[in-house]
Amino acid sequence: MRTLRDISDLRYALSEYRQRGQRLALVPTMGNLHAGHLALVETARQHADVVVSSLFVNPMQFGPGEDLDAYPRTLEADQQALADAGCDVLFAPTTQALYPSRLDEQTSVHVPVVSEGLCGGDRPGHFDGVATVVTMLFNLVQPDVACFGEKDYQQLAVIRKMVTDLHLPIEIIGVPIVRNEDGLALSSRNGYLSPEERATAPTLYRTLCTMRDALENGANHHEILQQGYQALYDAGFKPDYIELRDHTLGPVEATTRDAVLLAAAKLGPARLIDNVTLTLP
Ligand code: PAJ
Repeated sequence: MRTLRDISDLRYALSEYRQRGQRLALVPTMGNLHAGHLALVETARQHADVVVSSLFVNPMQFGPGEDLDAYPRTLEADQQALADAGCDVLFAPTTQALYPSRLDEQTSVHVPVVSEGLCGGDRPGHFDGVATVVTMLFNLVQPDVACFGEKDYQQLAVIRKMVTDLHLPIEIIGVPIVRNEDGLALSSRNGYLSPEERATAPTLYRTLCTMRDALENGANHHEILQQGYQALYDAGFKPDYIELRDHTLGPVEATTRDAVLLAAAKLGPARLIDNVTLTLP
């Protein structure tokens, strides 16, 4: 696997693959890789000849007071994991390379409606930062396909909408959530948890599953959401939101069948997110 830090090196290396008619897949990440990220690489390999992964802790998607500085940076271990997973090229640019101008003077990509509410409500500007850096990566790599995890359900919806609206010739593939045995979705932020908090953390997924089962059996939405909040509070979480949406993140109507329950909750120093899909009766 080749690690490239310069934009010019990346463009040159990728043009060679493209001249040979090879299909390129992109897996964007912020590093500190775990089996969830590697599942994206595995999926990418099934859809392309060449897998390019990017590793960049994107300052534009972090708000003031968020964990930009604390975000774990583990380049060497990530390189090894990506190489073992069959990644061909790692693009790990510096902040200066991607953002040569001041962040407050940076051209940005805004995806309305789908980026509002949920995590977009709690983290103003977050999805503008995500959409902007992903647009840059799409332009630099020009992949045929790009893989994103369903763990960040709203992020995936934002990227899909952006690709549709801007007519980007890229197929977006969503990859199912990879979990620990106890149900906790793998996340780089799980490393912030103390042993006690780590023991509590799977309650987030368990609560969503209990809610899903009740909703699929026809329970009242309002009551189930209330119970879900209470269960998380009782376990020691500070929930940011728990919401039931249709699978495109639109509001649930009487005719909605394919739906998704999404939650974000703080547990100690970590903000955990998770979701489960369900079929309403
Ligand atoms: P990061 O949090 O590093 O995640 C990179 C990709 O891995 C995302 O598509 C995310 O949904 C996926 N992922 C993370 N945990 C997962 C899990 N347990 N199961 C399946 N997929 C998982 O998301 C970002 O970085 C950034 O916002 C980025 C898209 C790279 C833009 O900066």
